[in-house]
Amino acid sequence: MPHARLDAALSAEVAALLESGTGKGEEAVIAAVIPPRSGLGPRYRIAGSDQQFVRMNSNSYLGLSLHPTVIAAEETATRQFGAGPGAVRFISGTYQTHLDLEQRLAGFHEREAAIVYSSAYAAVLSTLTSLITPETVVFSDELNHNCIINGVRMSRPESRGVYPHLDMDALDRALGESAGSAKRAVVITDGVFSMRGDFADLSAINEVASRHDASYPENVVVVVDDSHGVGAYGTTGRGTEEETKGEADVLVGTLGKAFGVNGGYVTGTDSLVSFLREKSLMYIYSNPITAGEAAAAEISVSILDSPEGVEMLTHLREMTTSFESGLVEVGYETIPGPHPIVPLMVRDTEQTAALVGHLFDNGILATGLNFPVVPKGNEEIRFQVNVGHTQADLDYVLSVLSDFEG
Ligand SMILES: Cc1ncc(COP(=O)(O)O)c(C=O)c1O
Repeated sequence: MPHARLDAALSAEVAALLESGTGKGEEAVIAAVIPPRSGLGPRYRIAGSDQQFVRMNSNSYLGLSLHPTVIAAEETATRQFGAGPGAVRFISGTYQTHLDLEQRLAGFHEREAAIVYSSAYAAVLSTLTSLITPETVVFSDELNHNCIINGVRMSRPESRGVYPHLDMDALDRALGESAGSAKRAVVITDGVFSMRGDFADLSAINEVASRHDASYPENVVVVVDDSHGVGAYGTTGRGTEEETKGEADVLVGTLGKAFGVNGGYVTGTDSLVSFLREKSLMYIYSNPITAGEAAAAEISVSILDSPEGVEMLTHLREMTTSFESGLVEVGYETIPGPHPIVPLMVRDTEQTAALVGHLFDNGILATGLNFPVVPKGNEEIRFQVNVGHTQADLDYVLSVLSDFEG
């Protein structure tokens, strides 16, 4: 049956988004990856263009998606076990590589156990909707990632509150006000905030949580999504926990950013992980990552946890510092910090689009972030430095930025 009226309504909605500058628009299609050569990092060819692009918007902070050992591990396991899992985990979709990966992740984070999901988004949604009961109060940072916002929305807590970004006094007050009414309190935050590269002080959150813990019969539980922190942050890549000397009770990470593969995970106590295997819907009713992806991710974790990983992190920090100070020298505003997310604050939707266009025309892939992804007035270009970038690559980007006449 034709649905002309529905199609017209949907098309009008898309047109309005594009017109307002907040739509995502046409996707750039990567048609080829050109390996690094003489002082330059990898380049990318985009379908429909002969130009070679420097990629300043990849989450693969350590370049592990192109690492030969990681690729070889995926190939070997895929040959051994097949291209897809063929079932969800509890039916017959659990492969040895999933268990090896879970053990490796638990060891890396010094936890009792870990559980792997098809993505970090699924991990967060599933964990929050399982942990949050009608007798739970939830407190969430106002700049948390979309998966947290929706995880909280999909849950049925006794009450939910949003505290101003990083505001520990507000969190302290909120936990105090709900004491005595709820059994359990869940405090949920990004580790590294993906739009700005700033981070939650987990030791401060631990302090506030422990101050109120005795008032909640089932504790104050600190849940941290450190998808952008693990593998990019901290001397050994253990993320925001390492950087701020704090600890999550429930730590969520992704395998699809610094680890360069695909999937997400939760790590914590044996009881937590056993509970999630029984209760979390996206683990129970949705296929896992492939056996090949699990094998590749396990190798990525082991590379990070080796002298090669420490070397990569050192280079990443050097490149990040150099790019950040370069931006300021060229006259742009950024939010300083050691994380390889380097925002260029434009603070205007049209100017953001114009600058992204200028970069694209000069062979640079970068992402403009507008409302509602970021609050109005915080429109920005999110640059992401990665291990594959050389000083020459970053100097080129800075020279193109300095040529912009907005
Ligand atoms: C904080 C945060 N959590 C979760 C995700 C989603 O990760 P995944 O692609 O593994 O679902 C992202 C990705 O942008 C993120 O920034």
